[in-house]
Amino acid sequence: PAPGWAIDADVVVVGSGVAGLTTALRCAAAGLATVVVTKARLDDGSTRWAQGGIAAALGEGDTPEQHLADTLVAGADLCDETAVRALVTEGPDAVRRLIETGALFDKTTSGDIALTREGGHHRRRIAHAGGDATGAEISRALVEAVRSAALRTVENALVLDLLTDAEGRTAGVTLHVMGEGQHDGVGAVRAPAVVLATGGMGQVFSATTNPSVSTGDGVALALRAGAEVSDLEFVQFHPTVLFLGADSEGQQPLVSEAVRGEGAHLVDASGTRFMLGQHELAELAPRDIVAKAITRQMHRHGTEHMYLDARHFGAEMWEHRFPTILAACRAHGIDPVTEPIPVAPAAHYASGGIRTDLTGRTTVPGLYACGEVACTGVHGANRLASNSLLEGLVFAERIAADIVRDRPERTEAVEPVGGSTSPLLVAESRTEIQRIMTKGAGVIRSAASLATAAEELEALQRTAADEAGAAEPKVAVPGVDAWEATNLLLVSRVLVAAAREREETRGCHWREDRPDRDDEHWRRHLVVRIAPDRR
Ligand code: SIN
Repeated sequence: PAPGWAIDADVVVVGSGVAGLTTALRCAAAGLATVVVTKARLDDGSTRWAQGGIAAALGEGDTPEQHLADTLVAGADLCDETAVRALVTEGPDAVRRLIETGALFDKTTSGDIALTREGGHHRRRIAHAGGDATGAEISRALVEAVRSAALRTVENALVLDLLTDAEGRTAGVTLHVMGEGQHDGVGAVRAPAVVLATGGMGQVFSATTNPSVSTGDGVALALRAGAEVSDLEFVQFHPTVLFLGADSEGQQPLVSEAVRGEGAHLVDASGTRFMLGQHELAELAPRDIVAKAITRQMHRHGTEHMYLDARHFGAEMWEHRFPTILAACRAHGIDPVTEPIPVAPAAHYASGGIRTDLTGRTTVPGLYACGEVACTGVHGANRLASNSLLEGLVFAERIAADIVRDRPERTEAVEPVGGSTSPLLVAESRTEIQRIMTKGAGVIRSAASLATAAEELEALQRTAADEAGAAEPKVAVPGVDAWEATNLLLVSRVLVAAAREREETRGCHWREDRPDRDDEHWRRHLVVRIAPDRR
């Protein structure tokens, strides 16, 4: 659709989690006219839901090299070591700058930052806030800083497509905005630098820890604009999500890895610890290993969940260290102080995304990607716990430095590019996509399950195209729900295609028909750029 209004800026940041707001604050501080657009309210993304914390070598005796080693092991030989090195060496100072921005982390009695452990970490290196409300505190601090900074924000603004100038350089984005007065309807922010920080795509699946806004909008935009995406097959399933019933859909309550970091045990219905003997770190093995072990136990016992037992923490520790999780469990009738918590894996994090270099540049000039939407190479085939907030912070600073160094000129001629050749889906398609993806491309996949998923997704696409082209066309009403469903279908198709192509099991990509890792053929990335007629 043609934009009905426009704002001009030097940089537009799309998304308001740790990655987006940090980029925006740094750009604005350097004097760039900066606009933040976000799909819901400023604090509505995934950042606010992060529990465990942010990993960085801040503790005595810990070093970036040790953090690097743990990250590479979790990434199953698919991390970009240079990117990981940047993450772990710049991480500690980036966390200190976050503290200067106003984030309050939990402290020890001697006044140092309190550190916990999570899966895959050989040391205590996870800083946390409010016990288990780290993301909420980071979000609070950044939103407050943004509100008092010299930058503009537009909320309730769903990004649609990229604008480019006559030379094909980025020139802004189009947006659909609801309820923001003078900026209602379809409009544009024209800017020579666009930073996509739109978060993940957990809503591709029926049950996820992600909020409802995580619909892959940034990856879909990038695909439509002809940018490269990579590693989409590596969807991380968090091992311990509160089990609320097999048909519980949408965002599910997380039970942080930090609960295991403080000594909780994974047990079956008879109380037997099944992680012992499976990995030297037992319950603190990297999360793909724990998620697989839980799923195997569920199959073996014919049950829908396992249990996390932390009764030995006692009421006081639960109340002080994990107040958010305690409240969520109790709200669903489970008291972790007196009973084990039923848990099962659920979709949690997209390890892949829009391919970038070490300054967050994508393959489209002027378009950057930061945080979960990006694939910087730091996660490989399986992200190490609590490296995501850190990635958002470190790469936001790198991107802002690059834009400030470049100071790209605003261009006059602005042409819309990309744009979907596919019809808009009706909002109800969302649940159908989630059903297809959960059944065919979930925690365990096979050639057969993925082929069925691919066929069903194509059928959905064909039906929408047929209905739009019929004598009496049935077209979805343009709006956030329809665009989200359309984005979910596009990213699902690409994800399934990548998962079919990778004929091995590695990291969080688990093919039961190809149970082994195949380094000879598959120690490489799948990079996708879709042709204009498939967008
Ligand atoms: C958690 O607290 O378990 C989530 C941490 C993460 O996803 O990195």
